[in-house]
Order: sequence, then C-alpha cells, then structure tokens
Amino acid sequence: MMVTAPPFVGHRLHLAFTSLLLILHLILGQLSEDQRVDEYHARNHQWPPLPSNYIPDNSGWRSLFDRRFQQIAQIPDLDAKYNAYMSSVHSALLAPNFTEYGWALTRGPDGLVQDLLHVLLDGLESSEEAEVEIQQHPVSEEYPQELPLMISIGKKLNTRAMEELKLILEAWSGVKLIANNAYGLRVYRNQSKLFMHIDETSSHVISAILHVGHDPNGAPWPLVIEDLYGNTNEVYLETGDMLLYESSKCFHGRPKRYNGNWYSSLFIHYYPHDWDEDRIEMDTHYRIPPNWNEMPTNPESHLETLAVMETSFKEPGCEHEWCGMKNTIKWERSERLEFGQFLSGDGEIRRLQFDEVGDEL
Ligand SMILES: *[C@@H]1O[C@H](CO)[C@@H](O)[C@H](O)[C@H]1NC(C)=O
Ligand SMILES: *[C@@H]1O[C@H](CO)[C@@H](O)[C@H](O)[C@H]1NC(C)=O
Repeated sequence: MMVTAPPFVGHRLHLAFTSLLLILHLILGQLSEDQRVDEYHARNHQWPPLPSNYIPDNSGWRSLFDRRFQQIAQIPDLDAKYNAYMSSVHSALLAPNFTEYGWALTRGPDGLVQDLLHVLLDGLESSEEAEVEIQQHPVSEEYPQELPLMISIGKKLNTRAMEELKLILEAWSGVKLIANNAYGLRVYRNQSKLFMHIDETSSHVISAILHVGHDPNGAPWPLVIEDLYGNTNEVYLETGDMLLYESSKCFHGRPKRYNGNWYSSLFIHYYPHDWDEDRIEMDTHYRIPPNWNEMPTNPESHLETLAVMETSFKEPGCEHEWCGMKNTIKWERSERLEFGQFLSGDGEIRRLQFDEVGDEL
C-alpha cells in the first residue's frame, strides 16, 4: 500500500545529508510503505522502543509516551493514526532536547511589553484592524467558539521583538537560533480552547509566548505543557510573563475553555542554526512501526480513547478532554523572578547565561 505522507515543504534542502532515494521522495511527495518498512528494518529499529531510544531516557518521559503509543495503536482512522505517530515519534524518540525540563518561565523585556500592550489596547478598540485567523485552530463541534483575532504589530515592532527575544531564548537553550516568525498578537475570546499538540517540527523548535494582557475580569487560563520528566504543568501567565518552551518537543495547549472577553499573547518561533529539518522528518517516517496500520490484538483496555485531528490531540473521556489535567503541577509568576532569570520544573530560579552562546558559529 501507499502511504501519503504529509506534504514535504522543505525550506532548506540539505543535499549533503540527503540520499538519492530521499530526493525522489521529496519530488514525488510520497513514500511507499514497502520502502519505508525496508528502511525501518535496515536501521534495526524495534517496537516497542527500547528505553535507550527515548530522548531523554527517564522513566517519566518513557511512561508518558508508552501510554500514548498504546492509545495511538487503537485509533481506527489511518490518516489520523499516521499523523499521531508522526507527532509522537518525533517528540518521544527523535527530537533532541535542549534544556532539562523543556519549558521555563521568565520575564519579557519591559519596554517591549509596554509597547505591545499599547498596540493591543488600541487594536481591541478599533475592531476593524483585527483579522480573524482561521487556520491552525480546530473548532470543537459541540462548542462553537469565536475564532481568535489577530492584531498586527507592524514590521518594526515585529523585528524588534524577534531580536530581543532571540537573545533570551539563545541564553536559555544554549544554541544559536534563527528566527522563523512572529504571528502578531493573537487574541483569544470567550470559550476558546487549544487542543494539545506539538508545533511544526521544521521551524518551531525553540519558542516563546510573551503574555501581553487579558480581560481583568476573565477567569485564570492555564497554558498546559508536558515536561521532559513526563509531568503535566499548568502555567498561569500575567502581563509581561514569558513562557520559553521546546515547542516541537513538548506537547502543549490550552485544553480548558477560557471564560473571559479577551486574552492576548505574542507567539514567536525559532530553530537552531544547524537544524536539519528534512533529515529529522524522514527519520520520523522510518521510525514508525511496520504494522502501524493494524489494530492491536490485545489492547490495553483501561486506556482512555485518544482522538487526533491533524496535529491536535484530545481525550474526550476526561475532563477538559485531556487526562493529564487530573494531575498537574501549577505555576504562576513569582515576585522573586526578575528579568534575566528563569524558573523551571524544580522550582529553582536561575540566571540566563547570556555570554555562553555562539562560540560554535
Ligand atoms: C535533556 O533532558 C534530560 C532530562 O531532563 C536532561 O538530563 C538533559 O540534560 C537534557 N539535555 C540538555 C542538552 O539539556
Ligand atoms: C462566556 O461564555 C459562557 C458560555 O456561553 C457564558 O456563560 C459566559 O458568561 C461568557 N463569559 C463572558 C465574559 O462573556
């Protein structure tokens, strides 16, 4: 059978690392299942994966994905199932991690935050400026919700944000980064939710959510992110707080519905200067088990159903459609946290090392 792989949109083709076969695949835009399975065996892959195949290799991370892989095995729709494997195999087994927890809470630069807040408040008043953003936001059938608005921040502020935040993300991740894009200010509205997902693996690797502001009467609305020890974290952001995260490594989303009129952040994405997106994508195809399209004969029946739409994951049987919400670690701004410092999964406040990046370039 033929598997239609997700479209290959390689921005940068690294010919040096690319086999002739791979070039052919890129041209055809699809990969035959027989070739894929041959390559799986040629690489001596095993399924279920060995403990040492997990990145990182620790029991929390392994059990998070061991459960998820078993849930994926029971997805009936084959397109959804292949997408679910692509995201989860990439996250669990292939993407390197750059930090210990995969996320951190820090402060955004004050001047930038104030300028963004002005643009936001002006934009909220003149609703003509706001554009509805439709893509990338699955709407749940049972709760039709208003789509998020987009407020443009202009080229100058955009460039400044990309440059200022890059230094912070480089200091945190320890790698030289290339900016992919900033999307402007996204404004979520009442009843919004964002299913758990990982971001575009080619270009959204090290990312930041700079929180600009929200309806003062709105209910607190957590950003949910899984860390590299398998814990589920709820992070509550206030104006000027910034979440740093490995966005195509750690599943994240906002599975709870927002109750309030507006909630707005700037999203900004980077990738490491030596990121080989084509190789990592092909490695992911080749790591999916050969019998992925069969139903397991002795499924783990106690596991909740996982439903996947494109890149969005949900577990309809659990509250907020995400079972990890039953047991979370909650984080909020600490008054002790200053600009240039970050807080992460062990609760320690550390200093960003601004001077230690870049020697490799
Ligand atoms: C990757 O994560 C593991 C577990 O958290 C950690 O021990 C390791 O140092 C991390 N790697 C990097 C480069 O930070
Ligand atoms: C948001 O929507 C919910 C459900 O329709 C409603 O109960 C609530 O009052 C709304 N909140 C605001 C701030 O509009």
